Amino acid sequence: MEEYESLQAQLELNDGIPYTPDWSAGGDFIQIIVDACLSARPSLVLECSSGLTTLMLARCCQMNGRGRVVSLEDGEQYADNTRAYIDRYGLGRYASVIHAPLRRSMLDGAEYAWYAIDKIPEKGIDMLVIDGPSGFIQKHSRYPALPVCYSRLSEGCRIYLDDAARPDEREIVALWQARYPTVRHEYRETSRGCSILTVEYPG
Ligand SMILES: C[S@@+](CC[C@H](N)C(=O)[O-])C[C@H]1O[C@@H](n2cnc3c(N)ncnc32)[C@H](O)[C@@H]1O
Repeated sequence: MEEYESLQAQLELNDGIPYTPDWSAGGDFIQIIVDACLSARPSLVLECSSGLTTLMLARCCQMNGRGRVVSLEDGEQYADNTRAYIDRYGLGRYASVIHAPLRRSMLDGAEYAWYAIDKIPEKGIDMLVIDGPSGFIQKHSRYPALPVCYSRLSEGCRIYLDDAARPDEREIVALWQARYPTVRHEYRETSRGCSILTVEYPG
């Protein structure tokens, strides 16, 4: 809880936060993405899964005086809940939560359920935060994020993958590196593991 309280204080979110013990991203992961957002000052953050991370990144964009977060959320009630917090803090200008139900499609010879992509921005993504879909849905649940979004990323885009200590996420990172050999990877020892990838020349 200490990490969340410290983030709450740093971002002046004194009217409650959408924290859920088993589902919110770890405080140490959020601190990494908050620091990155405040220092890189991205124009466009794409996020896979909404909640506490959306609220905190939206606040960072407000503090930066620029940028916005587009958050893909497959659960309608979770999307509504996140929107309620965004509204409570008057951050509507800095975040859009998109209800994007998971759809099945083939990718690299396997079938994945992943967010409906028709509302994903077509280009200009400077920061990609991946904390969904949930791992129990399928093997390599978060794999589609990079192949689907790659051509939409800006040069130098940083990708932050939560839960990167899990074997499934380690395999996903290895698959991404095999498919995109120029992508650089750094692993940070957080409570659940954080992989940070940098994309030099997408498209
Ligand atoms: C690991 S959660 C992370 C959400 C967000 N990034 C955060 O840090 O708050 C990923 C997904 O789990 C789902 N989820 C959230 N709360 C849930 C709950 N209480 N039970 C089942 N699924 C939940 C939502 O669809 C959400 O997008």
